[in-house]
Amino acid sequence: MTASSTSTSTSTEPPTSTAPVLIPVETEPFPGAHGTDPLPDDRPVAVSVQGVYKVFGRRPQEAVRRLKDGAGRADVKSLGTAAVIDASFDVKQGEIFVVMGLSGSGKSTLIRMLNGLWKPTAGHVLLGDDDLATVNAKQLRALRRSRVSMVFQHFALLPHRTVLDNAAYPLEIQGMGKAERREKAQQALDLVGLGGWQDSLPSQLSGGMRQRVGLARALAADTDVLLMDEAFSALDPLIRREMQEQLLDLQQTLGKTIIFITHDLNEAMHLGDRIAVMRDGRTVQIGTAEEILSDPANDYVAQFVADVDRTRVLTAASVMVRPTAVVPLGGGPRVASRTMREAQVSAAYVVDRQRVLRGVVRDADAVALLKSSGDHATSIESIVHDGVAPVSVDTPLAELFAPAAESPLPVAVTDDKNRLVGVIPRVTLLEAMVPPTLEEPDAVGQDTTEDAPAPQDTTSTEGADA
Ligand SMILES: Nc1ncnc2c1ncn2[C@@H]1O[C@H](COP(=O)(O)OP(=O)(O)O)[C@@H](O)[C@H]1O
Ligand SMILES: [Mg+2]
Repeated sequence: MTASSTSTSTSTEPPTSTAPVLIPVETEPFPGAHGTDPLPDDRPVAVSVQGVYKVFGRRPQEAVRRLKDGAGRADVKSLGTAAVIDASFDVKQGEIFVVMGLSGSGKSTLIRMLNGLWKPTAGHVLLGDDDLATVNAKQLRALRRSRVSMVFQHFALLPHRTVLDNAAYPLEIQGMGKAERREKAQQALDLVGLGGWQDSLPSQLSGGMRQRVGLARALAADTDVLLMDEAFSALDPLIRREMQEQLLDLQQTLGKTIIFITHDLNEAMHLGDRIAVMRDGRTVQIGTAEEILSDPANDYVAQFVADVDRTRVLTAASVMVRPTAVVPLGGGPRVASRTMREAQVSAAYVVDRQRVLRGVVRDADAVALLKSSGDHATSIESIVHDGVAPVSVDTPLAELFAPAAESPLPVAVTDDKNRLVGVIPRVTLLEAMVPPTLEEPDAVGQDTTEDAPAPQDTTSTEGADA
């Protein structure tokens, strides 16, 4: 285990582990401390996929029967193509749910069943309370118009119509009056950053802008659910990145439920609140980016994620630990110095009653204040240093190295109300860089623990799963 305070040999301790730590803040649990998304769980389900199969071919029902008995795609080949096999998941309202997999894994087939374009061979797709399998054709058309819209990779814009009329097209088909549909389309164009281009023709736009028109068209329809099938895959990397950011912004303001398909892992990890990984028709893992990275369900997923830049995907929230010492702003120097002495730290973060981070206090200053004012000093405000640069819970690891290097204290992590929600000791940051799969010996290999990388420093992670 670790050296206790009575240890005589401190030379084996990594220097970073002596970084000051803070005493427990007993209030709320840490959002995202387990690497899970802090989406509230009580959100209603927008789309529910229940045991869905889709087999193209001559004998689809027989194929489903065999698949249910454990057969794979290849086993039922003579009966048909098993495009989707036993898909089950719920997408919450306001969630971005990404379906990721290699080409041919069944993504497009799956998403086409979500808007009723394909009928499942078996299983159910529910939009809110409506089961797409049981509604009649007319109800289905109405549902598709009012509840789901779709953005494709190659967007078919009508070449002789203006951008505005292209964006208004689905509304026109619905029979909406010209003035009203143009107003809605214009709002949607403004949202995607194409305000001012409404009178242009598609040929006057770049590829990225055309894709924005596609997005505007889907937004103009004002449905709760957006389905996006490789919507950004044909774009240049930089434009693609811009579109991703814009989608995240739009999602923040509009709160749409988005089901986004991609074969690109980095895109999936960047956009998805949760990700479903598909392989040969089956969903092999569903989880947050962090869960998939740190605990891949099988070798396939592990290989998929092997070359992901973990520092771009993992965020402060996933590595921060509980602050083990904080000093209340309202306390006096006696409280401050006792707190630091007990935690064996030379400095600590100071928070007010609302846990808002107010600065740092040093033990020497607290002792000096105590000496000069005795018991008269009731406040430490005069010795609190501000100039702390906290990071937000969403900050990617890649952006934490500079603050960590500059700060003698563990990096402070604050929420959107500037409350201290966690800290990141430098050693924790370094540990987080190690892919978990590399630490485990292969099942077929002999015991390789001797060669294993440095053992986990349990001291720095014990607060994380409290
Ligand atoms: N209409 C169809 N008829 C027959 N097979 C199809 C049809 N659509 C897709 N497939 C097959 O289903 C499998 C999954 O395809 P798809 O859903 O398009 O995958 P992805 O979108 O992940 O590339 C593939 O083997 C594909 O050839
Ligand atoms: Mg596809």
